[in-house]
Amino acid sequence: MSIRFYEEKKIFKLDTATSSYVIEIFEQGYLLCQYYGAKIPDVNFKGYKFREYFASFSPSNASVEDHSFSADVSPLEYSGFGVGDFRKTAVAIRNADGNNCTDFRYVSHKIYKGKPALAGMPATYANTDDECETLEIYVRDKVTDAAAVLMYTVFENYGAMTKAVRIINESDKPMDIEKVYSASVSFNTMDFDIVHLYGRHNAERNMARSPLEHGHTSLSSTRGSSSHFHNPFAALVRHGADENQGEVFGFNLVYSGNFDITADVDYYECTRVNIGINPDGFTWHLEAGEEFQTPEAVLVFSGEGIGEMSRIFHRLYNNNLIRGRWKTEKRPLLINSWEAAYFSFDTDKLVSFAERAKEVGIEMLVMDDGWFGVRNSDNCSLGDWYVNEDKLPGGLGVLIDRVNALGLKFGIWYEPEMISPDSDLYRAHPDWCIHVPGRDCSIARQQYVIDMSRADVRENIYGQMKEVLSNYKIDYVKWDFNRNISEAGSALLGKEHGEEIFHRFVLGTYEVMDRLTRDFPDILLENCSGGGGRFDPAMLYYSPQIWASDNTDAIERIAIQFGTSMCYPASTMGAHVSMSRRTGFETKGNVAMWGTFGYELDPNHLTEKDIEIVKKQVADYHKYYNLTHNGDLYRIVNPWDNSYYAAWELVSPDKSEMLFTLVNMRYYHCNKRIIRFRGLDADKYYTLEENGEVYSGAFLMNAGLNVSRMRSGTGDSFTLHFVEKK
Ligand code: DGJ
Repeated sequence: MSIRFYEEKKIFKLDTATSSYVIEIFEQGYLLCQYYGAKIPDVNFKGYKFREYFASFSPSNASVEDHSFSADVSPLEYSGFGVGDFRKTAVAIRNADGNNCTDFRYVSHKIYKGKPALAGMPATYANTDDECETLEIYVRDKVTDAAAVLMYTVFENYGAMTKAVRIINESDKPMDIEKVYSASVSFNTMDFDIVHLYGRHNAERNMARSPLEHGHTSLSSTRGSSSHFHNPFAALVRHGADENQGEVFGFNLVYSGNFDITADVDYYECTRVNIGINPDGFTWHLEAGEEFQTPEAVLVFSGEGIGEMSRIFHRLYNNNLIRGRWKTEKRPLLINSWEAAYFSFDTDKLVSFAERAKEVGIEMLVMDDGWFGVRNSDNCSLGDWYVNEDKLPGGLGVLIDRVNALGLKFGIWYEPEMISPDSDLYRAHPDWCIHVPGRDCSIARQQYVIDMSRADVRENIYGQMKEVLSNYKIDYVKWDFNRNISEAGSALLGKEHGEEIFHRFVLGTYEVMDRLTRDFPDILLENCSGGGGRFDPAMLYYSPQIWASDNTDAIERIAIQFGTSMCYPASTMGAHVSMSRRTGFETKGNVAMWGTFGYELDPNHLTEKDIEIVKKQVADYHKYYNLTHNGDLYRIVNPWDNSYYAAWELVSPDKSEMLFTLVNMRYYHCNKRIIRFRGLDADKYYTLEENGEVYSGAFLMNAGLNVSRMRSGTGDSFTLHFVEKK
C-alpha cells in the first residue's frame, strides 16, 4: 500500500519507493503539508510541527486550541485567500456576496487503487489498477458552501505522484473561481536553487539555475499556450545537489495553456510552491451544482540528483502518459518537406523526394505546410483545408498512391487552431476568430487564432480534417500552432464567462485532439508550435512526439535537447537531420539520434558521400531504436557546465547496452579528456564495439576512458557503443 491513513494521528502518508509525502489533519480540519522528501518510516511529526507563529501581524484562529498555530506561517496543504494566510495562496473563490475569502477544511476522504481520468483533461493514467493508488480528500468552506476534492495519485515504483483539484459549487448561488492552482507544496526551509527552462523561438528550453530568494518567484505564460518562453516545469534543487547527487523536487504541469509556477519564501524562510493555471486573465463562473476540474501537476522526488529526476519523468511519461499504437510500436523513419521545399512543391517534386528517400531506407514522406487552399506563402488559406490542385493535380489520392507505390507511408500537415484573414472560411465567418468586438485584432505570421472555445467552429474544422483523413491513406499528422493569443475574447461567451476564454480554448483543442486520436488511432500524431512552442506533457497525451525546435543546427540543438530532456524523454523529442551548414552529416545524425530521428532536406541534393553516411544513419536508427525510445538518459557533460563539448548516454533498462555520444561545440585541443561513464552495471563486462576492447562497468564508471584522440574540431562528434560481454 502506498497510501496510508493513520486514524489516531490523523495523518496521511503517501509513499513511493523513494519518497514520502505527509499530510496532517490538524485542529478544526486544517490540512497541513507536514513533509515531502526522502522516504521516512515514522509518522511522528511532533518534531516537525509547523513553526511557532509567535510573531506580531500573523493572525490566529480563536477556535484552534493550539495557540501557536497561525494560517500565515503553517504549511497549509491547499490554502485559501483572505483567511489569515498572507502568502501566495492556492485558491480564491468569489461568492455571491462579493467577497473572495476561501477557507477549505477537511470533511472526509477515500483511498482506492488505480487512477480516475480527469474530465476533459489530459493526465497520466494507470495501465492496471495495481500500478498506483489514489487519495481523494473532500474539503469544504462552511460559509460559502464551496467544496473541493483534492486528488492525489501515487506511482509507487516511480518516485512520482500527481495532484489535481476539483472545485464544486455546493451552494444555491453562482460563484466565480478567481484562482485555482492544481497543487501547493510546502517545505520548511529555503535552502534551494530553482531550476527552470526559458527560451524563445529557435532557442527553446534553456536551463537556468539560481538560488531561491525571499519573496516571490513566478514562471509563467499568458500567451494562450505553454510557450517557447517558459516551460511548465520547475525544480527545487537542494543546495549542493547537482546532476548526480542530492535532493531534487521536480514539478511539471500537464497543461498547454496559461500556467503559473510560483515559489514563495516567507518570513520564516519556508518555501511554498504553487503550480497551476495562471490566475492572470482567468476567472471561471460556476453556477450552483457545477464543477471545475484543474489540470494535473506531476511531482517527482529524486534523492540522486537532477539526472535521476529526469529519468523518473521519462519513465513515467513513456509508460503512463503516452498512449495508443505508437507508444510501443516502432515509428516509421520520416522525411519532412518543409526545409526542403517550403511552399514551393508539386506532386512530382514530392515524389522525387520519396524516390530518393526510398533508396536510403526512409519509410515515410511528410508533406508539410502549403498543400491546401491557395497557400503559396504564409499569408493565406489557413482554415481552407481542401487540396490545392494547382500544386497537386488530381488531388491527394494521386500523390499518396505514387508515394505508397514506392513503399513509403505518407504524412500531412495541419494548423487547425488558426485562420487566415485571406481565407474562404474567414470571409464566410469573420466572427470565428478569437477577438474583442470593436478592438483591432493583432496579427501574427499574417494569421488569426480560430475560436476553439466554440463547438460550431470545432465541428467545422474537425469536419474538414475528417473528410481528408477518412478518404485518403494518411499515416501521420503534424499539428502546428504558429502564434499566440491576444485580444482574448469570443463572440459567444458574454460577460459572465468572458475570462474563461483562454482555458476554454485549450479545452476545445483537447476535445478535437481527442476526437482525432479516437477516430484515427493508427495515425501517428506529432505536435509542433513554431518548433517547440507547446512542448508540454498535455500535448504528449495526444501525440507521442513533438517537434522540438525550428532550429535544426546540430550545435544549437545541443542546448535545446539538453533542456528538453529535463523532463521529456528522447522518444518524444522531434529531431531531424537538415541541410544546416555548421556541422557534417555525421554530427547532425549523432545529435538527431537522441530523439525521434528523421530528415528535413531535399534528398536529391545529397552527394554520394552524404548518401553513404545517411544509409549508415538509417541502419543506426534501427540498431539503436530500443535505446533511444526506452533507454535511460545520463547527461554526462552538460552544455551549461562546459562550453566546449557536451556528452550524453542512453543505457538500456537492463544495463546490457550503452550508446555514448560526444559533440564538440567548439574546437577542443587537449590530449587528456577522460570520460567517466555512468548508469552501467559495475559487475558486468562491456565490449567497446569499435575495437573489441573489454572493460568492466566498474572500470568505465570509476577510472573512465581517455577519449582525447577522438575528433576535436568544432562540430566534430563521435559515438561509442558498449555491449555487455556474456
Ligand atoms: C512551423 C514549424 O515548426 C515548421 O516545422 C513548419 O511546419 C512551419 N511551421 C510550416 O509553416
